[in-house]
Order: sequence, then structure tokens, then C-alpha cells
Amino acid sequence: AKDPLVLFMPSGKRGRFPVGTPVLDAARKLGVYVESVCGGRATCGRCQVSVQEGNFAKHKIVSSLDHISEKGPKEERYEKVRGLPEGRRLSCSALILGDLVVDVPQDTVINAQVVRKAATDRHIERNPAVQLCYVEVDEPDMHKPLGDLDRLKAVLEKDWGWKDLAVAPHLIPEVQSILRKGNWGVTAAIHRDMDSSRPFIIGLWPGLKNEAYGIACDIGSTTIAMHLVSLLSGRIAASSGTSNPQIRFGEDLMSRVSYVMMNADGREAMTKAVREAVNMLIGKVCEEGGVDRHDILDMVFVANPIMHHLFLGIDPTELGQAPFALAVSGALQYWAYDIDIEVNRGARLYLLPCIAGHVGADAAGATLAEGPYRQDRMMLLVDVGTNAEIVLGHRGRVVAASSPTGPAFEGAEISSGQRAAPGAIERVRIDPVTLEPRFRVIGVDKWSDEEGFAEAAAGVGVTGICGSAIIEVVAEMYLSGLISEDGVVDGAMAARSPRILQNGRTFSYLLHDGEPRITVTQNDIRAIQLAKSALYAGIKLLMEKQGVEHVDMIRFAGAFGSFIDPKYAMVLGLIPDCDLAEVKAVGNAAGTGALMALLNRDHRREIELEVSRIEKIETALEPKFQEHFVNAMALPNKVDAFPELAK
Ligand code: FES
Repeated sequence: AKDPLVLFMPSGKRGRFPVGTPVLDAARKLGVYVESVCGGRATCGRCQVSVQEGNFAKHKIVSSLDHISEKGPKEERYEKVRGLPEGRRLSCSALILGDLVVDVPQDTVINAQVVRKAATDRHIERNPAVQLCYVEVDEPDMHKPLGDLDRLKAVLEKDWGWKDLAVAPHLIPEVQSILRKGNWGVTAAIHRDMDSSRPFIIGLWPGLKNEAYGIACDIGSTTIAMHLVSLLSGRIAASSGTSNPQIRFGEDLMSRVSYVMMNADGREAMTKAVREAVNMLIGKVCEEGGVDRHDILDMVFVANPIMHHLFLGIDPTELGQAPFALAVSGALQYWAYDIDIEVNRGARLYLLPCIAGHVGADAAGATLAEGPYRQDRMMLLVDVGTNAEIVLGHRGRVVAASSPTGPAFEGAEISSGQRAAPGAIERVRIDPVTLEPRFRVIGVDKWSDEEGFAEAAAGVGVTGICGSAIIEVVAEMYLSGLISEDGVVDGAMAARSPRILQNGRTFSYLLHDGEPRITVTQNDIRAIQLAKSALYAGIKLLMEKQGVEHVDMIRFAGAFGSFIDPKYAMVLGLIPDCDLAEVKAVGNAAGTGALMALLNRDHRREIELEVSRIEKIETALEPKFQEHFVNAMALPNKVDAFPELAK
């Protein structure tokens, strides 16, 4: 008879194994990642799986709980002392007796932080760079004068297969006391993703150490976002964010570069500020997650090129001017300690590669998360900030560029603009007949024309317009005929509506007659036109490089993308024509990419390879950019059609 067939879910990997094989060994052989710290001693409980009951005819398996061994004495003991959730088994102890379907619990679920769109849960298969390995080291023997550390290495090789182990130097003076404190039973943390490709002992604890955490962090110019994750289960223990304190040196990226150029100690001050903020945020997520920061052993960071350089203490001046030379574009590794990050002394820090001078490791993170290079159809990925990072491609070819959109989409340069915060108008509709507006305000649960709005808004106020509403109000003004295709507010409309106000030679639209008064001026509309033209021209350039006139799907990364309505973005011609059902906001995709690289080191190799393949387009060097830019000033565009909008 054939050996039993074992199928692992959710990966679908399967194979045949002799009766009596531990489930953990079968998983190992198939490359299914199941954690194990104690090395099969049934003490760590990290190797838990559940055996599914049911008929898996599709995989030619009729699963039954009878096909797995009864709990043995060690597993029984673990259950008694530590408890096992219903249906869970220790895969190191449970033996295969017949065909099986084994479910490997996947604890990492990223809930795309999308506010209004359907959230999609995503699982990340785990294969972290750090592994905890418990061993029992031989006691010293006068007849065999091998050092304590050397005997530790020997048993790590014997029990766990680690060859050619290196040791983090800070551990060497501590080895003897740790071994004795643990009565020769110790847990070593092995990092197997070092530059040197040698596995490294980066941590050592007496006895069984059963927790290891990682940090995934996205350093944005405005916000720093962070996840704290268990490297052993993949569970996200806490997620949080803080504003980037570098804002006090300059609101946008270029003003921070200028600050470095103008001030002798500017670079140091900004490096110190961002590292302090990262340390503070680590403290915050650790407190929320109930985790000791010294249990953090691995970290992955993404950032735009200027944040990336400043975080590492590199002068970003070269990035402020053509040819926008990065000091380093490849992926990087550090000892976290060496760049003042206060976690475990042996923790490592990995930075994703930068794509180009203005397309950073954050775009690489978003590219990893959304995977244009994994698609059969043409995917457009845009992250809109003061600089739009644009990636376009599919399986065959991916191109990338950045485009200087300026801060208008973030509410800067707009007369009543503000960041998305309570009091900001976030949605706008204009009645095409009466030309009266109605709007929604962040923090107020009603439309402005609904009963009780005034009372509801009393505590919050109506303070300005945020990025999403600027897009909507300009689009609505266009749709209701208040502005022409060229973006000019039509003064003749003043006869039809008292909301059209004259200021000198131009006109504006009164959106809210309160304190403060909120108007949309001709200058505001110009600022939006310039920003959207820059974005569209960049996209169009990449479409030309790809030889396509149509994109099949659009992914908006970043906060701005989460709030704008794709229809309005298309009405204004911010993005090219596309089936609206295929336009999606994906939240902080850069952070998701960092998390993927943290939990699975294969993703590091994947994005390093893809970034080296991506063709970088420098918009400033492209003669057609200007032409696309001028065409895109019109609403929605002077030359390009938007058939999807007519549907
Ligand atoms: Fe530790 Fe199974 S490997 S309990």
C-alpha cells in the first residue's frame, strides 16, 4: 500500500510519508513553515497545527481524526501545564497514521486600513529571518578542552543543522554565565539573513525563550507607521503611528533638504529627531502589545529616499537636485544598535532597496505588497504625496517614475486647505440645478443639509477642506458647469447663484458661509490642475513606455488614496480611464510590504530582484512629459478620452 498522503493548508503543499512520521517532519520536508523553538521536546508549543476533519475529495484525501496518533505523554503533559486550544496538536509529537489534511494556523492577517472600501484580508506565509532554537549543551569536560561557545555551536549544528555559525561579538563575554544560569539548557536566536550569508547567533538566553518580536516600519515625511509582530506566530501585537518630528525643520521633503544645506548641524538634528521618534513609537507599540522592547530581534524599514537617507544619517543634498543621486540604492542591513535603535542588542534592521532617486524603498514596499510583476494584466500603482510615486507593469515588464505633484493634494497651497482631521470637509456634492452645495465633515456624522447638522458640528466646527474634498469639489464644480474645461470659474454663473463671488478679475465658489468662510478660489483650482497634470503626465509617460493606451487596474496607496473617490479622480483626469470596479485603495501598502519582508525573508530576495529589473524613467529627462502635462491641464484631458465615465 502507498504511504499516507498529507496535505498542508493553506499552502496546498502535499506529499506522502511513512506511517509514524511526526507531522512537523513532514512539514519541514515539504518546505511548509511551522515554528519550533524547543526542537521537538513538546515544551515550547510553537509547532501547533490542527487536523481537519472532512472529505477532501478534491485532493483525494478523506480526512479523519483517526489518521493521527493519540496524544503521547509529552503532549499530554504540555496540554496539562500550558493548555492546548480545542483541536490543536503539537506537530512535533503527533504522528501520521493515515491520509491527513493539516491546517497550519496563519496568524498574520493584514486588514487593509481602508476606510470606505471593502477591506481585504491578506495572509502572509511565514519564513522569518530569525529563529529561536533551544539546545542542551554538553557540560565542560577536562578531557575535551573545547570552549563553552564551541560546544554550544556544536550542539546547534547537531540538533538544528546550523553550520558555520558566527556569533554576535557582544554575546561572547556573556556565554559562560548564560550557559550556567540555564543549567546548560539555553535558547539561541539565529539570524539567517545576514549579508555574509553565514547564520549568526544574535541572542542567547538561559532556559527556554519562547518569544521573539519584529518591527515593520514605514517612515513617511508626515507620519511614521509601525507594526509590532510576533516572529513566532505572526500575530500583530500592536500597530501605531506618530507624526514625523522632522516637520519642524520643513513641511515637505525639499524644504528638509534645504534645511540640511543651510544649517551646519541640520542633517544630525533631523537624523536624531527621526530616530528618537522611532524609539518612542517602539515604546508605544510595546506598551500596547505588552511586549518588552528587548524581545525585538528583527526589523524591516521602508521610507522615501530622503527619509531613508536621513534615518541612516546620510546627507540627502544630492537628492535635492539633478541627477538625484542616491548614496545607496540596494537593500541594506544594520545592527539596530549601530543606528541608535533601542531594542535587543543583537537585533538586525533591514531596509528595502530604493527604486530610484525619487522612488524610494516605500514604493518598493508597495510594489512588493501589490505585486504588479505578479499580474497578467497591466497594473498601475500610485502613491500620492508631495511627490507621486508611480509604478506600472505586469509580469513581463515594470516601469516606474515619480512626478512632482506638489502638496496641493494634501491640502497645502489651497486657500482653505488643511490636513484630514476633525473639522475638515471631506465630501462635497453640488446640485447642478440650484448650484447649492452639501458636504460632510470629518468627525460629524451627518451631511450638511441633514437635520441636526449644526448641533452635531457645533463641537467640531467646519475648519477647512482636506485633500479628498478638494478633488470632489473641483470635480463637482466641473460637472455642474461652474468651471469650464480649462478650469476657469464662469463669472456668468453669478447671475444664477449668489455663491459665485467675484474677487478682482477671477471668481470663486462659496462652499461654506461660516466662521471661517470656506471658498474655492480660482487659484485653488489652478493648484489642483497643476498637481493632477503632473500626476497624469507621469502616468501617461509610463503608459507610452509600456505601449498601452489603457490600464486594467489601478491601486492607490497611501492615506490620500484611501479617501479619494475613484470616480472623482477620473472626472478630473487624475488617473487614466479604467473600469471603476478595478480602481482600489490599498491603504499603507508600503507598510504592508515591510511586514511581508519581516515575516518572510523570501520576500526580501523577491523585491531585491524585482527592483533591479524595474525600468526607472526620469520624467525630467523625457521630452514628451511637458506635452502630456499641458494636455492634462484640461478637465479631464485635452486629448485623452474617458469612455468608462460615460458608463
Ligand atoms: Fe516545541 Fe513542538 S516543537 S512543542
